[in-house]
Amino acid sequence: EAIEKGGYDHFMLKEINEQPRSIADCMRGRLDAKNGRLVLGGLRDYMNKFQNAKRIIITACGTSWHAGLVAEYLFEEFARIPVEVEYASEFRYRNPVVGPEDFIIAISQSGETADTLAAIELAKSKGATIFGVCNVVGSSIARATHAGSYTHAGPEIGVASTKAFTAQISVLTMMALKLGYQRGTLSESRYMQLLSELETIPSKVERALKLNDKIQVIAEKYKDSRNFLYLGRGYNFPVALEGALKLKEISYIHAEGYPAAEMKHGPIALIDEEMPVVFIATKDSSYEKVVSNIQEVKARKGKIIAVVTEGDDTVKHMADYIIEIPDTEEAFVPLISVIPLQQLSYHIAVMRGCNVDQPRNLAKSVTVE
Ligand code: G6P
Repeated sequence: EAIEKGGYDHFMLKEINEQPRSIADCMRGRLDAKNGRLVLGGLRDYMNKFQNAKRIIITACGTSWHAGLVAEYLFEEFARIPVEVEYASEFRYRNPVVGPEDFIIAISQSGETADTLAAIELAKSKGATIFGVCNVVGSSIARATHAGSYTHAGPEIGVASTKAFTAQISVLTMMALKLGYQRGTLSESRYMQLLSELETIPSKVERALKLNDKIQVIAEKYKDSRNFLYLGRGYNFPVALEGALKLKEISYIHAEGYPAAEMKHGPIALIDEEMPVVFIATKDSSYEKVVSNIQEVKARKGKIIAVVTEGDDTVKHMADYIIEIPDTEEAFVPLISVIPLQQLSYHIAVMRGCNVDQPRNLAKSVTVE
């Protein structure tokens, strides 16, 4: 087992650190920015259906559902097709309105999640086209779908998903760019620009990983907190959900993720000097608004940990700790902003003596409903 961990103390840490490579593996042979080429083999025969879909429905569970939320922003922004993101467990029992004009994307690391599989069978019986985004080759979900793209993240052993999440987002990003280009909602020049930026993501993730020591200091400071709040907007809203989920899963600290602007409708009541609030406040279209949310937390003496864009000069005067990550296109930020949140939950869990790779009550693959 020590050999399999490749010198790391835990699989989760190994998998966090593998992300520059797993994201690159996911894009290898598919993305060639210099020549403006983006090829997703699985999509080829279904591109027509995808392009002409009235609606995209994404279904998944857990972390994969969070990747689906990121994809909602991606598909709507780049391809202008309405998207719904559904918990598979709800979708399957709701008698949903779904039919031949819908394009369903099922996301699953293991490819074995019972609820996701049942949601696929239901949508299939109603005539929809089902596309899978799975990590495990030959898994039940991969076999049940009409077509799909594998995430090629390699085996993920830690129960808390890390590299599978960023690989899922990488595939979904490529799908959204391809779709936008084919539909003409994305101009050629913008498409080319986005492809080049996407190619830089593995090296930017590598840079983000170097913040590990700083994150250990933050973990030490807040490891005994009883609650955490994670806030972000836009593309960083699903990242806030994912950051909170990672912390709950492995450290057993209660954590909630929220869209930053919703804070005033509830979570703000919880804020006092005991409450660490993790903001994802990168320089994007909602930056100013997130900054005012930070001020609101500060006014209530909450402790602020902020993930910001490198060189940010505003938030550093308000936050207790800042984590500076490399700048990228707004749509690609989740691939980088989630990294320090994975590291934070990892270090807190280790410091609390938790079983990081095998947290209590959780399973890697949930094959029962
Ligand atoms: C379990 C795992 C999570 C995972 C979820 C969905 O709860 O512990 O890490 O996100 O199932 O699994 P899937 O394999 O379908 O992505």
